[in-house]
Amino acid sequence: MLGPLWGHDIVTTKITWAREISRLVNQRCASCHRPGGGAPFALLTYEQARPWARSMAEEVLERRMPPWNPVKGFGEFKHEAGLNQEEISLLADWVEGGAPRGKDRYLPPAPVFPAPPALLSRPRLAITDQQLLAQTVTARGIAVVRLREGASVSAWAELPDGAAEPLLEIAAFRQVANQPLEFLRPLRLPAGTRLHISGTAALALISSGGPPARQSGLSAPRPPAAPAAKHDGRPGAGRSR
Ligand code: HEC
Repeated sequence: MLGPLWGHDIVTTKITWAREISRLVNQRCASCHRPGGGAPFALLTYEQARPWARSMAEEVLERRMPPWNPVKGFGEFKHEAGLNQEEISLLADWVEGGAPRGKDRYLPPAPVFPAPPALLSRPRLAITDQQLLAQTVTARGIAVVRLREGASVSAWAELPDGAAEPLLEIAAFRQVANQPLEFLRPLRLPAGTRLHISGTAALALISSGGPPARQSGLSAPRPPAAPAAKHDGRPGAGRSR
C-alpha cells in the first residue's frame, strides 16, 4: 500500500520532516495521533506520516484538523487548536514538494504530552438554561460535560444591564476534541445575570474562586494544604515566609 507513494514524488522543496514538519506535527497533531491518543492512526514518525501526507495537507487546508469544537467568533478562547496560515502553508508546501524526509539528525526529541491544563482542577459550576446567578461569578472558562456527538449548542449570558455576552457555540460536537475551554479574558458575570442555553447539553462554568480541586477536577475540592491553611481572611494573613 505504501509502494506507490514512496519514491514517486520528485523533491522540489527544502522543507523536511526531520526539521520542520515533525515539530509542527508534534505540537499540533500528536496529542491525538499517537497510540491511545484518540485518533485512529499515529503521526509520530516519518514512516507513519508519509502515507498520510496528502490527506494531512487536505485536512488542514479544509480546517477539519485539528478538530476544535467552538464556532469561531462566538466567545474568545485561549489555545485555539487551528493552525495559523504560516503553519498550513508549511505543511502544504512540504507535501507539494514531495514530502521529503530530511536528515534524521535534525529530528526533535520525542514529544512529551503535558498533564491536562490546570483549568481542569478549578471548581466548576453546572449551569442550566434560564438560570439566574444569585452571586457574581468570575468565569475562567467553560466546559462541555455532556453533549451528543454531532449535536449543537449555544450558550450566552444576559447581563443585568441587558447586554448579551457570548459564552460558547458548537455546531457539531466532537467528543475527541472536547476539553475545558479557557476564555481569552476572565468573564465577570454579575449577580442577576441570566444564562441561556439552547440545545440539550450539560455545561459548566469554570470559576476562579475557591481552592482548586485535586487532580481529577471532578472530585470534591479538598481542604488546602498546610501553608494556605494559615489564611484567616485578614489581608496579608498567611503571606509571611
Ligand atoms: C483532538 C484530536 C486530534 C488532533 C489534535 C488532530 N487530529 Fe487528526 N484525527 C483525529 C481523529 C479522531 C480522526 C479520525 C477521523 C475523525 O474522527 O475525524 C483524525 C483523522 C485525521 C486524518 C484522516 C482524515 C480522513 O478521514 O481521511 C488526517 C489526515 C489527520 N487526522 C491529520 C491531522 C493533522 C495533520 C493534525 C495536526 C495538524 C491532526 N490531525 C490533529 C483527531 C485529531
